[in-house]
Amino acid sequence: MIEKKIRDAMNDQIKHELESFYIYLSMVAYFHKQGLDGMAHWMRCQAHEEMIHAMKFFDHIIDRGSTVILQDLKQIKTTWKTPLEAWQDAYEHEKFITGKINNLTKISREENDYTSEPILSWFLNEQIEEEKNTEKVARELALVEKSKQGILMLDRELAARVFVAGSSFDPTAYNVAP
Ligand code: FEO
Repeated sequence: MIEKKIRDAMNDQIKHELESFYIYLSMVAYFHKQGLDGMAHWMRCQAHEEMIHAMKFFDHIIDRGSTVILQDLKQIKTTWKTPLEAWQDAYEHEKFITGKINNLTKISREENDYTSEPILSWFLNEQIEEEKNTEKVARELALVEKSKQGILMLDRELAARVFVAGSSFDPTAYNVAP
């Protein structure tokens, strides 16, 4: 079983991870519209990862015999002034998520919920990566912001990100030839 306090916080975290999915999916649409298909691809991979994050908490709650309660998602941004603003938002959002994972860890310790430790350790490590990746692109984009050539080079670099194997978010997985 799982204590109510930690269960409620994990249900909140499912919502935050699904909101992350939604934010990055919105950025996929935005970047495609800007003709930045590499950035759109990177965000598509990221959106899929966020869905996986939500499902990790979803399954953890179920595996411990407790109840998943899905919550409303808030309306998120649908456009940005510049690609740089979108990446800065992504970095700020990841810092917000890190704060939520830290808080979950704090609650689990206060409640002596040692069973949550492995999943929360995984997320604490994951957030290092999440912040590092988004901060790096935001920083590099800030350096080349006035250069169309620089933005296109970065866009091509970001197109190289690889989907989780078998991802249904990978267009090549469902755009099968007739
Ligand atoms: Fe699920 Fe990007 O943190």
